Amino acid sequence: MSCFFFKKKSKSRGEAKSAPELQNERPRNNPAVNRVCKSTSSIPSPRSLTEVYKEKAKESDFRVFSLQELVQATNGFNRMLKIGEGGFGSVYKGTIKPPGGRGDPIVVAIKKLNKHGFQGHKEWLAEVQFLGVVNHPNLVKLLGYCSVDGERGTQRLLVYEYMANRSLEPHLFNPSLPTLPWKTRLQIMIGAAEGLAYLHEGLEFQVIYRDFKTSNVLLDENFHPKLSDFGLAREGPQGDNTHVSTAVVGTQGYAAPEYVDTGHLKAECDIYSFGVVLYEIITGRRALDRNRPAAEQKLLNWVKQYPADTDRFSMIIDLRLRNHFSPGAIRKVAKLANTCISKNPKDRPTMAQIVESLKEALQVSETSSTSQSSAPESSRSALARRGK
Ligand SMILES: Nc1ncnc2c1ncn2[C@@H]1O[C@H](COP(=O)(O)OP(=O)(O)OP(=O)(O)O)[C@@H](O)[C@H]1O
Ligand SMILES: [Mg+2]
Repeated sequence: MSCFFFKKKSKSRGEAKSAPELQNERPRNNPAVNRVCKSTSSIPSPRSLTEVYKEKAKESDFRVFSLQELVQATNGFNRMLKIGEGGFGSVYKGTIKPPGGRGDPIVVAIKKLNKHGFQGHKEWLAEVQFLGVVNHPNLVKLLGYCSVDGERGTQRLLVYEYMANRSLEPHLFNPSLPTLPWKTRLQIMIGAAEGLAYLHEGLEFQVIYRDFKTSNVLLDENFHPKLSDFGLAREGPQGDNTHVSTAVVGTQGYAAPEYVDTGHLKAECDIYSFGVVLYEIITGRRALDRNRPAAEQKLLNWVKQYPADTDRFSMIIDLRLRNHFSPGAIRKVAKLANTCISKNPKDRPTMAQIVESLKEALQVSETSSTSQSSAPESSRSALARRGK
């Protein structure tokens, strides 16, 4: 499921030789970056992302790749090495030389901007900017990038650490992959919640992620989760401001309704999306699935008919989990999801509260059942066998 409503584009020329300059890239009247009026003259304002990035860029260890290096790394962007495709373009598995040229080659994921796609330079830049500033075990590492504006057109690429189990999406929804055990689902959501809590509360400025969904939760060989895709991320409101006004972008089924209606972006919008994904891990169903009967296409409308404190609730639990879950924990997670998707954003919990609540649910799962395995060995080998 890819993002909706996009705009573009860039003007700069020439191949980037160092961290991209961001200062001049943010048009003043771009609705996606403007904050809502009201200034706070008496309070010293926290530094902005651009300021922090400029400082960190000096010490940044991002590598700047030539297009030729990335062509080589992917065997000419060979389609056999393509591991995914999203709104930004295609993602390839590749191999690069280690820094300094000595040592074993490094396996990476290379995202190549689709020239005709609806995401563009601005999203590429946001990704470099945010990933240049953040540092957390639950956020994917950007190793470097490539930017070329030549006679033969524009090229924008991003080089990430390779995540052997790719994203949460196929593990939840692709029936040909082994079932992801309940405890692993919970552990993945705890890690993802810790990543979001860091973005919301752990930096000098708040970051609103804006595109939380299963395909953006990447999984390493041990199913440790890391958030990817910062192309839509924005700095949160500062001072007295309650929200940031933006053009509405995100993914249908995950975006908070008040944001879609008004374009007013707040951290609570991420909490809503998190609640949607919690229902996805409970039910094994997609937030929006056009292949289902009309009444079941929108997950949140469907689950409403099976409240967590009734017997009917058991009807919506992912059948693939069989009985290998703790009923108490799963109800607890459903109740948490309900608070995340509260109509009034003020009634939604913070990410820190969510982390705590999920850890409690994990504890309940651990004490109440011995039949839940937490390592989907066969998922690991299924992906490894395909060499992806
Ligand atoms: N670092 C990575 N390591 C391994 N696989 C990756 C990596 N980054 C992305 N992928 C794979 O590529 C797929 C496509 O990713 P991409 O972010 O381009 O699109 P998306 O998340 O599916 O959609 P959208 O563009 O709407 O965010 C992912 O779902 C994942 O399977
Ligand atoms: Mg993505």
